[in-house]
Amino acid sequence: MVKIGVLISGGGTNLQAIIDGCENNTIKGNVKVVISNKEDAYGLQRAKNHDIKAIFEKEEDKIIQILKENEIDLVVLAGYLKIISPKLVNEYRNRIINIHPSLIPAFCGKGYYGEKVHQGVIDYGAKVTGATVHFVDEGADTGPIIMQKTVEVKQDDDSKKLAARVLKVEHEILTKSISMFCENKLTVDGRRVYIND
Ligand code: GRF
Repeated sequence: MVKIGVLISGGGTNLQAIIDGCENNTIKGNVKVVISNKEDAYGLQRAKNHDIKAIFEKEEDKIIQILKENEIDLVVLAGYLKIISPKLVNEYRNRIINIHPSLIPAFCGKGYYGEKVHQGVIDYGAKVTGATVHFVDEGADTGPIIMQKTVEVKQDDDSKKLAARVLKVEHEILTKSISMFCENKLTVDGRRVYIND
């Protein structure tokens, strides 16, 4: 079984989707540790509810140490609001997965996180948005894309309503991407990710 480490900063609904996927066996893996850079992140409570190690840690060197101690095979950034260092990227090349709530390369990178993403979509007048799962490289939201799924922008949307619809799609494609990783169905070739489903 693939040992998964999840990094969070907030409520952890993506984390919950991963935990549920492992428990119902759609993900052939186990969440061994959850690490948050925010002490009050509810995602830490979600981990404790499932007897999963939950650690508040901001120092990246200590985070790497925790990942190594737990023999983590796959790192998932699930609502983790920090750019990780080249050191961590190198330690886990093409073994770090991130979820972003837009169709990368639109509405991503510096300053685009959480509600700001959806407000940007609405302010721009975009008709379609969505979510993206990608491997993490040295940039912000720039690594090879694994999966994307679209979400229609409705005329009466505000950022909260749109965020809620996109969040459901995040859970769906994040768990599917992790499931495929755990079953060795993903091949990275430069910027391209091939799915051998
Ligand atoms: C999600 O939209 C995620 O993409 C963003 O933060 C929101 C909440 O994520 N980074 P979660 O509920 O903490 O998983």
